[in-house]
Amino acid sequence: MDFTNKIIRGDCEEILKNLPDNCVDLIFTSPPYADQRNQTYGGVKPDDYVNWFLPKAAQFLRVLKPTGTFILNIKERVVRGERHTYVIELILAMRKQGWLWTEEFMWHKKNSYPGKWPNRFRDSWERLLQFNKRRKFNMYQEAVMVPVGDWAKTRLDNLSETDRIRDESKVNSGFGKNISNWVGRDKVYPNNVIYMATECSNRSHSAAFPLDLPSWFIKLFTIKDDMVLDPFIGSGTTAEAAMKLGRNYIGIDIKEEYCQLAQDRLSQLQIRLFEQIGSNSLSSIAAIMIWIGFSLRG
Ligand SMILES: C[S@@+](CC[C@H](N)C(=O)[O-])C[C@H]1O[C@@H](n2cnc3c(N)ncnc32)[C@H](O)[C@@H]1O
Repeated sequence: MDFTNKIIRGDCEEILKNLPDNCVDLIFTSPPYADQRNQTYGGVKPDDYVNWFLPKAAQFLRVLKPTGTFILNIKERVVRGERHTYVIELILAMRKQGWLWTEEFMWHKKNSYPGKWPNRFRDSWERLLQFNKRRKFNMYQEAVMVPVGDWAKTRLDNLSETDRIRDESKVNSGFGKNISNWVGRDKVYPNNVIYMATECSNRSHSAAFPLDLPSWFIKLFTIKDDMVLDPFIGSGTTAEAAMKLGRNYIGIDIKEEYCQLAQDRLSQLQIRLFEQIGSNSLSSIAAIMIWIGFSLRG
């Protein structure tokens, strides 16, 4: 069965057994957080989380291409007054399973609402853990470059001698820099903190992330026609991002209502995209006809 560009209902661990090895370029997902949404789509006890996740991660490892990337959006919850360690335990267990824990991005939620707790401040960020099968993987850094920013105006106009050579890190981190390389450039590479507001418009799923979040990683780790998998697709955000960017997708969710929600969302998007293509080609035809008219007259 071909799962390309489909939303499939079922337990992702079972569904993925039907996929061949090494067929996916990017896995981007936000699984149910431990115990958090047991009213809506079933929670997993924090102490059971690693055992629950690992067999699924084994399938992710199998279907991911050696050049591919797995981004896991997750955050440990507070249990009995302290942060539970299941995310840290999961990272260690996944490394034993064969994954490389390549990087960690932070999603800073710009619009998290204020609150008062006796022993901590409001939680304004989530982890996006990056796992790979190999040290060399596909990464298209130019696709996510950002404007250089105002710092360049003052900083790059006043370069010191050390700014003109590669200044090696004093702590041997390997992150040396040559500031003068950035003179005359209007775009730079971003850092690993992503500033995005949480999703407010999608009220049909209680845990939807913003469309820009998967879009950013899809641009960074895939190119046109690559395959993006979200094994916990929820309302279909990852699939929408993939479709808009011209990538293929596979979405899986255990709940029928969320599969329906995602499917409806994608069907509507497809209609909008077709309409756009239609109106674009109509205006192109009109432009060609006007041009031919002018040419014949000339
Ligand atoms: C955090 S939500 C994902 C939300 C999604 N990122 C979005 O933007 O709408 C996790 C989803 O995983 C689904 N789920 C839970 N267990 C699953 C399993 N074993 N296999 C597939 N989906 C599962 C839930 O129904 C829920 O929709």
